[in-house]
Amino acid sequence: MSERREYTGDYPEKTLYVPGPTEVREDVIEAMCEPMFGHRMDRMTDLYTTIVEDTKEFLDTDNNVIILTGSGTEFMESSLLNLVDEDVLVTTCGSFSERQANVAERLGKNVDTLEYEWGRAVKPGDVRERLEESDTDYDAVTCVMNESSTGVRNPIEEIGDVVAEYPDTYFVVDAVSALGGDYVNIDEHDIDVIFTSVQKAFAMPPGLAVCVVSDEAYERELGKDSASWYGGFQRSLDYYDRKGQTHSTPAISVMLAYRKQMKYMLEEGHAARDQRHLEMAEYTREWAREHFAMFPEAGYESQTVACIENTQGIDVAETIAAVDEQYDFVFSNGYGSQLGEKTFRIGHMGEHDLESIKTLTSAIENVTGL
Ligand SMILES: Cc1ncc(COP(=O)(O)O)c(C=O)c1O
Repeated sequence: MSERREYTGDYPEKTLYVPGPTEVREDVIEAMCEPMFGHRMDRMTDLYTTIVEDTKEFLDTDNNVIILTGSGTEFMESSLLNLVDEDVLVTTCGSFSERQANVAERLGKNVDTLEYEWGRAVKPGDVRERLEESDTDYDAVTCVMNESSTGVRNPIEEIGDVVAEYPDTYFVVDAVSALGGDYVNIDEHDIDVIFTSVQKAFAMPPGLAVCVVSDEAYERELGKDSASWYGGFQRSLDYYDRKGQTHSTPAISVMLAYRKQMKYMLEEGHAARDQRHLEMAEYTREWAREHFAMFPEAGYESQTVACIENTQGIDVAETIAAVDEQYDFVFSNGYGSQLGEKTFRIGHMGEHDLESIKTLTSAIENVTGL
């Protein structure tokens, strides 16, 4: 049982290198400090249509964009409710993809899994084989683009191309911790649903989730009585069409921050943003290989989260605490009890750049005496 602990407001400022929430620009935080306005006012239409259309432009997609108050898990649940009548094939290779399977089971769906050991990546050939050999006509195949628990970047582009050969099977991608820092051509690879949370590579304060939905996925939901109310594609997109607003009261202040940050993202552009993230990822991998080893299967390392295998047997918890205390930098241990001390993770996403990542790695070197 947790006991009440007073929030004092008196905490040292930390630089976040965790895989989200990540650093947010000061003026983006400040953008939230406007007097409140009503979610049915014209001003709200200005705000919501701006952030929706800017997001389409940034992600370079003609598909529909929904931005709702909540976290990415909202769309993990609602996409399954909206698209799956009976059978879903969930590819699993870490904690978040296993969550996707668990969510589908709780919703009463028939869940088949294509399972990989943590640290391995999902292979398009295996997905093809499963779809070819199975007697089941799956309503959807799911995949996590960036397994934040293991630092694996799954080849969702190739998997999307495989699933596209099955027109009645929809492809659902959890891109939390990737979108905004790792470019994917959503339309070209027939990704029906792809969602993220804004506190990751979008570098915004938490509170909103973004979902990109194909016309086919929208159509598919229309005939379903069991579709989600809150995360329903139809309700959200029809409301947008008619009013340019959300169906229920959104986190207006966070949307103000979103507007500000999305302008910066558009200024940088997705190609430059992708390149910056690649540079951070390559540097971190090189550093990790020099001192430790990378945990993910070679060739499938994430562009936004480095999961580093603790080959030196350092005390991960102690190192994190020392770096925190001496430098006010916060990075992450491995995910859960399985990887807690065996790995550690560095989130190189959002507002970070090569210099800020180098500052962290030298702090780790100093503390551990590497
Ligand atoms: C890959 C992935 N999926 C889903 C989630 C859950 O996101 P949220 O906490 O925004 O619901 C996370 C969070 O870290 C994640 O990394």
